[in-house]
Amino acid sequence: MKVLVLLSVFWLPGILGQISNKKFPESFQFGAATAAYQIEGAWDEDGKGESMWDRFIHEDPDRVKDRQNADIACDSYHKWREDIELLKELGVTLYRFSVSWPRILPNGTPNKINQAGIDHYKTFIKALKEAGIEPIVTLYHWDLPQHLLELGGWLNEQIADYFGEYARIAFKNFGDDVKIWATINEPKSTCLIGYGAGDSPPGLKLVADGVYQCAKVQLLAHAKAYHIYDDEFRAQQGGRISLVLDTTYNEPASDSDADKFGAELETEFNLGWYANPVYIGDWPELMKTRIANRSRQEGYSFSRLPEFTAEQLKYVNGTFDYFGLNMYTGLTAQYTGEFDIGEPNYYLDKGTSTSHGADWTPSTVSWLYSYPVGMRKLLNLVWNKYNPGTIYVTENGWASDGSLNDQGRIDYLQAYLSNLLDAILEDGVNVAGYTTWSLMDNFEWTEGYTQKFGIIHVDFDSPNRTRTFKESGRWYQKVVATRCLIDSCDE
Ligand SMILES: *[C@@H]1O[C@H](CO)[C@@H](O)[C@H](O)[C@H]1NC(C)=O
Ligand SMILES: *[C@@H]1O[C@H](CO)[C@@H](O)[C@H](O)[C@H]1NC(C)=O
Ligand SMILES: *[C@@H]1O[C@H](CO)[C@@H](O)[C@H](O)[C@H]1NC(C)=O
Repeated sequence: MKVLVLLSVFWLPGILGQISNKKFPESFQFGAATAAYQIEGAWDEDGKGESMWDRFIHEDPDRVKDRQNADIACDSYHKWREDIELLKELGVTLYRFSVSWPRILPNGTPNKINQAGIDHYKTFIKALKEAGIEPIVTLYHWDLPQHLLELGGWLNEQIADYFGEYARIAFKNFGDDVKIWATINEPKSTCLIGYGAGDSPPGLKLVADGVYQCAKVQLLAHAKAYHIYDDEFRAQQGGRISLVLDTTYNEPASDSDADKFGAELETEFNLGWYANPVYIGDWPELMKTRIANRSRQEGYSFSRLPEFTAEQLKYVNGTFDYFGLNMYTGLTAQYTGEFDIGEPNYYLDKGTSTSHGADWTPSTVSWLYSYPVGMRKLLNLVWNKYNPGTIYVTENGWASDGSLNDQGRIDYLQAYLSNLLDAILEDGVNVAGYTTWSLMDNFEWTEGYTQKFGIIHVDFDSPNRTRTFKESGRWYQKVVATRCLIDSCDE
């Protein structure tokens, strides 16, 4: 309730709950998003190498909620023509998908290139372009080649060099047709889930230090790819390149100064952690001082948050051409006060506790609540704090039970898109495009097929992996065609 009171004071133009009756600008691009591991299948076909996800799940099926795997998934490696037909039917002009690193470099190393993998993506990208759909190509959506994991994965700075080699091969082969690149998807989730909680590969619980080292290596890898593009390809290919960051919008749990500080901490330790080095230069000051302070009290003579050298700072700073933003939900945040010194831990460093607003609509997934005005507020925050020039909302979507009648997803998308439109028209934020998550139901990592994010249903019981539009897919199709979120917009 308190949150609502705050909103009505600061957000006069957008009356809560009211869907905009304005049209999206003609230049705004609608699209949909997927990721290689979640849809492609063909996990060992035509020379593809093993990814750390292949290994992690094959090694122990119990790591996945429904004991399923992504060996076939949506079978998009074979059914990509059908996927393009779906995109055409939706009428979208953007498709965000990822290239599987081990599909084109089976070991992740540049000495052995899998031509079948190169050909697959070349053909796919050409067909997309012919259909009038612009690709946003993510280079790394979590499927690290297993060999590189054995080399130390995202804890080893050398992985940044390997990522650079891979990126160069992708730019060289696909760059004539790709004008929007995303280097790394959601580094925060990779580091916190894979190297902190240990619930995704490599399954490490290094919540004191590994999570921070992982962040540094991913940022160096991103920067490496950016500079290779900048130095060797940009002049000829003329595209744009950045990374994709995920965050919640964090509301203070009350209007106390302590909770406002809690929300700031939450934002800096999630979004600022990655955005600050790229868009401003260096880690957020709050992280630097807090982690250094706690490290000292824990007996370290250096900070568990690894410093960038002066050279690295400069190398990472400014490596963006747009801001790729994944946003699904909000949180309410409280400052807990300083935790006692004990086992070093990212969450103790952060010093917050989080929840959700009492009146936010829950989805079928524990972390996902509908908090539409958070979209507008987050876009304003990103715009004002990071000055990115252009923002793409590269993921946003709703989880439901998978039925074709998915009014909850329509309500969610309508309200979020309305707030996105308000950010453009009322607040002057340059949001150039939106790729909803997801084009279709797919393999949701360790949740298996239990979480359905698609606007198109996939029948995972059929060998055909039959695709069927949900009601939200039809609704989105109409929005794309009319550029209007309601029956009829102001002209
Ligand atoms: C990052 O780069 C910008 C633009 O060149 C510059 O203004 C800023 O001072 C740099 N940040 C740091 C911490 O060096
Ligand atoms: C370091 O932490 C201690 C204990 O939490 C606190 O009292 C002190 O103000 C902190 N110092 C700095 C420089 O943040
Ligand atoms: C799969 O597709 C083929 C070809 O369209 C069709 O003949 C067959 O009946 C389908 N099978 C299922 C289980 O849907």
